Amino acid sequence: MAASPFVHGVPLPGRVLTRHRSAWSEHRVPARLITIEGIDGAGKTTLAAGLLEALLGRGIEAVALREPGGVALAERIRSLVKDPELEIADRAEALLYAASRAQLVAERVEPELAAGRWVLLDRYVDSSLAYQGAGRALGVDAVAAINHFATGGLAADRTLLLAIEPAAGRARRGVRGEDADRLEREADEFFARIAAGYRALAAAEPGRVRVLDAARTPDEVLEAALAELADLLG
Ligand code: TMP
Repeated sequence: MAASPFVHGVPLPGRVLTRHRSAWSEHRVPARLITIEGIDGAGKTTLAAGLLEALLGRGIEAVALREPGGVALAERIRSLVKDPELEIADRAEALLYAASRAQLVAERVEPELAAGRWVLLDRYVDSSLAYQGAGRALGVDAVAAINHFATGGLAADRTLLLAIEPAAGRARRGVRGEDADRLEREADEFFARIAAGYRALAAAEPGRVRVLDAARTPDEVLEAALAELADLLG
């Protein structure tokens, strides 16, 4: 399996491919924001690592980041939202994820895209629409509105949705009891609402959101993901 692009949750700065710009100035493909989505245990992190290797292997400058996290403030918010000791109201939860996202977009995503690098994001706005909008039943439109404010409207060029049955995701994660974080402790119905929320997002935007069968092997999922990105890869 490919090496993880993260060390203790912080993306490795050295994962950005460096190459003399003159070597590619003419045939360079435009920088894209690609997001990977799915319920916990769907295999997003493995796919992100595989995709990063594949892009770098094609000579495409790229960086992989995760949400919530990727920059110092967002990593701190990550530990807050995951802390099982904390009581967090649903609206506060949605705002914390949005705040984390606002910082990541401003501090990393926009500068990377402006520098011509592809950005692979392990979760983005759709996670909030599915988890807070559908899972917490705050409403997809309300959550979309705060995220539009948070991101300044920056949308993914393509989203790869790893579809897996909630029970299979739970089994794959293999965490339970005291090892589980605040969200992982939620009941199966919560994850069923999230999975349904994701399905609705994919149905509403089939051009952007491409559904991959996460029950397949990591290599097969990577191959399917690359096929869904083929038109962007040039
Ligand atoms: P993960 O990075 O290990 O998947 O953990 C992130 C957790 O936070 C996961 O349970 C999904 C949840 N989450 C939301 O509820 N809303 C969001 O907007 C994001 C980015 C994550």
